[in-house]
Amino acid sequence: MPTITFQYGDQSFPVQAEAGESVMMAAARHRVPGIDADCGGGCSCATCHVYAPEEAALPEPSDMEKDMLDFADALTDASRLSCQITVTRWTASLT
Ligand code: FES
Repeated sequence: MPTITFQYGDQSFPVQAEAGESVMMAAARHRVPGIDADCGGGCSCATCHVYAPEEAALPEPSDMEKDMLDFADALTDASRLSCQITVTRWTASLT
């Protein structure tokens, strides 16, 4: 089972995720702070914004995700919407 380590401020939250679920769902199931996911994963709120490390080697975001990321605060090149990332067998750190 993949482990995703979320970092929020100076705290780390390692969570067990199910392959096939979204990173947002794994965070929500473990009540990770900072991931509100107001739209429930519909790619229409940007409140599931995370920073994905380059070593996660994620697929490129879709055009829909890119458009919604414009509404996220503190956007960087590492910004992603966690509801649009499907958990695979990798282990990652997300902030
Ligand atoms: S949960 Fe709303 S955009 Fe990801």
